[in-house]
Amino acid sequence: MNIIEFADKDQLGREAAAMIARTIEAKPHAVLGLATGGTPVDTYRELIRLHQSKQLSLKQTKTVNLDEYVGLDSDHENSYMTYMKRHLFDHIDIPKDQYYLPNGNASNLDLECLRYEQLIQDLGGIDLQLLGIGQNGHIGFNEPGTPFTSRTHVVQLDENTRQTNARYFSSIDEVPTYAITMGIESILSSKKILLLASGKSKAKVIQYLEKAEIHPDFPASALKLHQDVTVFIDREAGSLR
Ligand code: F6R
Repeated sequence: MNIIEFADKDQLGREAAAMIARTIEAKPHAVLGLATGGTPVDTYRELIRLHQSKQLSLKQTKTVNLDEYVGLDSDHENSYMTYMKRHLFDHIDIPKDQYYLPNGNASNLDLECLRYEQLIQDLGGIDLQLLGIGQNGHIGFNEPGTPFTSRTHVVQLDENTRQTNARYFSSIDEVPTYAITMGIESILSSKKILLLASGKSKAKVIQYLEKAEIHPDFPASALKLHQDVTVFIDREAGSLR
């Protein structure tokens, strides 16, 4: 695991976007694994800038997202589909049928998980997976205790995770209780992984990640089993190292 520290979150976003752009330049039909949340917003903004200044095209690229809430329509203002359109897809040239998220409104959620897992395989696997990290070490919505052998599955969200995500909803009661997430093994099957962490609120988890033994109680420690993981942090997230 290679940890690289940047001055601030703007630089982190530019560098993360540059790594994604290099991946697409080398392989225009690459499959990107994408994340939502606060952390990748700057990365997506920079990707949009690169596209608008004609330095990057995602016309041939396909994307699969890590997760989606259960029970929200895909056009709900807080669905991850809406997030992805708002922060990236609506501003770049990726065709509408080349980006995928799990369908959290499927009538049979277990079948939906199998379908999503199969889809990733049919696309040829993920070339570069972008990740954030929760303060409890979650990756995707794989909360502490999730087996490392997990594939795409339905999860009940940790109370802390619901509280943290409540900032996007008008009240905590509106935050969904369940989500579909890629599993840890699905994530580890990606060819390359880029984890981003910025801000003081991530300093403890980054300190812990560096030292942590590999154990399901700390899901991000599974990344130590992968040979090509880069972690980009800003100075604040690195302040307790
Ligand atoms: C998002 C996801 C989550 C977030 C994590 C960090 O798709 O799967 O694991 O990456 O909760 O969220 P932020 O970036 O908001 O701190």
